[in-house]
Amino acid sequence: MSRLVVVSNRVGIPDGSARAGGLEVSIRPALKKRGGIWFGWSGKVAEERTGAAKTVEHDKVSYITIDLLKGDYEEFYNGFANRVLWPILHYRLDLAEFTRRDLGGYFRVNQYFVENLERVLRPDDVIWVHDYHLMPLAQILRERGHKNRIGFFLHIPCPPPEILTGLPNHERLIPALCHYDLVGFQTENDANNFSRYLANEVGLRRAGDDGFYYEDRVVHIGIFPVGVETEAFTRLARRAISTQFVSDVMASMSDRALIIGVDRLDYSKGIPERLNAYERFLANFPDWRGLVTYLQITPRSRTDIREYADIGRLVGETVGRINGTFGEASWTPLRYINKAHSRSSLAGLYRYARVGLVTPLRDGMNLVAKEFIAAQDPDDPGVLVLSRFAGAARECSAALLVNPYDSEGVAIAINRALGMPLEERRMRHQANYAALTRNDLTQWAERFLGRLEEHVPAETETRPA
Ligand code: G6P
Repeated sequence: MSRLVVVSNRVGIPDGSARAGGLEVSIRPALKKRGGIWFGWSGKVAEERTGAAKTVEHDKVSYITIDLLKGDYEEFYNGFANRVLWPILHYRLDLAEFTRRDLGGYFRVNQYFVENLERVLRPDDVIWVHDYHLMPLAQILRERGHKNRIGFFLHIPCPPPEILTGLPNHERLIPALCHYDLVGFQTENDANNFSRYLANEVGLRRAGDDGFYYEDRVVHIGIFPVGVETEAFTRLARRAISTQFVSDVMASMSDRALIIGVDRLDYSKGIPERLNAYERFLANFPDWRGLVTYLQITPRSRTDIREYADIGRLVGETVGRINGTFGEASWTPLRYINKAHSRSSLAGLYRYARVGLVTPLRDGMNLVAKEFIAAQDPDDPGVLVLSRFAGAARECSAALLVNPYDSEGVAIAINRALGMPLEERRMRHQANYAALTRNDLTQWAERFLGRLEEHVPAETETRPA
């Protein structure tokens, strides 16, 4: 079997630091199983380019990281990746702040990644690149003569061509994905959007059922919904429920029902909309007042970017308003926490909660939704209220699916979830759990790598006359 080289902006170095984000959570177990290299950014900003990559060896995996310069961090990470690609790929053209300088920084850092990566690369390595930070990586590698099998997986949504074409310089960036042998998406919708873009905007011709001819090669497109380590997470939750941390939370609840939300502080997660829905719920279903507590755990993220500071302020104000309006001396309706929690603590809280609120305005998959399901006690499960705009809604269709923009609808769903009879809760949970075991994290990685490795080498595929 060829050596696996994973490349992503964030690298989950096993140093104990708990960071939120689906990408790291999904790659780590896949790589641990097979071994190989995980290459990417150290998360550090250096004064000057030393050119020295750091390597940490752990459990068959070499974690190789490079630092970014301040300008790289600004233009590549805060700039083009998170001020332009992130909003646009989440359907938010209105939030994109494009500059040519940031685009230049984006390509420069991709080039820098390649220059460092090729020092360790062998001709028969299989390279798996992850997420929107590194879209041009294969093109740069190809231009420098690398013929490796290279796959790309987009963890976040791919919007329709009508939105993608609003991305300045999309003609340079999106077709660059065709230098990969396989481009993977979370859902059918994402894959179809990309195919439509290639067919209509780039004018590429179809190659079989799942590919397109591009220059002298074929790019294959696949759907690989990312999963969680379902059974391991269930075991974690079962153990975590009796930890001191969860016991302390339970003791503080005075038998009230726990509603839980866990998200990075990001506008794509629909947190203000969700808080408005909770406010509606308290207003429209007053019998529940004093009987529920909503705990929203929201670690801060990308704090140098204005939109993230703005959303932080808005959420803080909304929390204050709700507690001010509905709170009593003896009851706080909403607890809002910015601290990141360990996976074990979250697993225990999910298991204890009666309702999980996962209501992003747009999300590639959303692993909180899947982990919430995995964590439940099958005999007495809690209920997931899930946005129909999260990729997870396809597989977890037995959740209460909601439109996150409809705060009244979400309020009704919260009421329904809290009052749901045991039989119905069990039925829904069983259906969702079965979906998660059919497609867990190991199968995700194996399916992607299996597909990537099954195709004949790109250079032997020819364009038909
Ligand atoms: C999402 C993205 C990841 C990213 C993570 C955390 O899950 O898909 O690529 O790593 O958010 O964001 P950050 O900017 O802190 O890496």
